[in-house]
Amino acid sequence: MRIYSRILGTGSYLPAKRLTNADLAAELAQQGVETSDDWIVERTGIRARHFAADDQGCSDLATEASRRALDAAGLAAQDIDLIIVGTSTPDMVFPSVATMVQHKLGAAGCPAFDVQAVCSGFIYALTIADAMIQNGSAKRALVIGAEVFSRILDFKDRTTCVLFGDGAGAVVLEASDTPGILATDLHADGKYKDILCVPGHVNRGGILGDPVLKMDGQAVFKLAVGVLEETARASLAKANLTDADIDWLIPHQANIRIMQSTAKKLKMPADKVVVTVDQHGNTSAASIPLALDTAVRDGRIQRGQTLMLEGVGGGFTWGSVLLRY
Ligand SMILES: CC(C)(COP(=O)(O)OP(=O)(O)OC[C@H]1O[C@@H](n2cnc3c(N)ncnc32)[C@H](O)[C@@H]1OP(=O)(O)O)[C@@H](O)C(=O)NCCC(=O)NCCS
Repeated sequence: MRIYSRILGTGSYLPAKRLTNADLAAELAQQGVETSDDWIVERTGIRARHFAADDQGCSDLATEASRRALDAAGLAAQDIDLIIVGTSTPDMVFPSVATMVQHKLGAAGCPAFDVQAVCSGFIYALTIADAMIQNGSAKRALVIGAEVFSRILDFKDRTTCVLFGDGAGAVVLEASDTPGILATDLHADGKYKDILCVPGHVNRGGILGDPVLKMDGQAVFKLAVGVLEETARASLAKANLTDADIDWLIPHQANIRIMQSTAKKLKMPADKVVVTVDQHGNTSAASIPLALDTAVRDGRIQRGQTLMLEGVGGGFTWGSVLLRY
C-alpha cells in the first residue's frame, strides 16, 4: 500500500512591527528615496509588510510558527522525527535554522536541516519531507518556511525594498494511508543567477561583494509567469488530474499580477486563489505556508479539498506540490 504524507496542522507567525506602504514611504523619504502607496499597490498589490525586531532571528519566527502548527496538529515537539526549514536568511552561516528550531522547541535527536531554494524553499522542503515519509525515513515531519528579508534589503533601492517582508509558516506532515500529497515537481536553472541574487558573502572575516538583494524585476516577472504554469501542469499530469480539479491555488506571494496571470493560465477564477501578499509582501520561502495557514484558519480550506501550492525564486528555482488537504 502506498504511504502518503498528509498535513495534520498548519501555523504561521508575523513579527509585531507592521509597516503600511505609507509608513514605509515616510521612512524612505527621510533618506531621499521616493515612493508611494499608489505605486506599490498598483504594481504589486502589496499594502503592508512586517519586519522582525532587531533581536529576532529567522529561527525565532520559525519556532513561533512551528509551535502554532504543532498545537493545530495536537502534537508535541518530541513527536516530530524530521525538521526541514526552507530559508535564505538564516541566523548564522551555520548551524542551520532547523537545528536552532529543534532546540528552541525543546526537542533533540531527530534529523534537522535547511534547504536553500529562495522563494521556492518551502516547496523544496515539502517535497523532500514527502519523499522521506514515503520511503519510511520519517513519520511526522515539521516543514517550515521562514525569512527575515528585511536584513538583506537595500533601503536606498526603491525597486526592491518595497516588495519584501519577514515572516514564517509551518506545517506538520504525517505518514498516512490516505492522501495526502499527490504529486510534486521541482526544477532549477542556474543560468538565471544574476536576475535575482544577494552577491555578497562572508570571506576571511569580512563581507566580499554587496550583501543586499539585487533584482531585474521585469526579467523575473516574465520567467515566473511561464514556469508557474508549467510546473502546475506537470504536477497535475503526474496525479492524473486537470486544472478543473483544483479547489485552491496557493502560489508564492510575490506580486498580485504574477498570481493573476498564473490563475488565468490555469483557468482558475480569482476567488479560488489565496492572496495574502497585500498583508505581508513577499516573504520568500515563508509566503506559501503563511497563505496556506491563513486560508485554513479562516475556514476557506476544508478537509478533502485539492490544493495546488507553487513557488518560484532565485536560482532560478521553481516547483509545485499538489495535495489533498
Ligand atoms: C518590480 C516590479 C514591481 C516593477 O514593476 P514594473 O511595472 O516592471 O516597473 P518598472 O521596473 O518598469 O518601473 C516603472 C517605473 O516605476 C519606477 N519605480 C520603481 N520602483 C518604484 C517605487 N517603489 N516607487 C515609485 N516608483 C518606482 C521606476 O523607476 C520606473 O520609472 P521610470 O519609468 O521613470 O524609469 C515588477 O517588475 C515585478 O513585480 N517583478 C517581479 C518581482 C518579483 O516578483 N520578485 C520576486 C520573485 S520570487
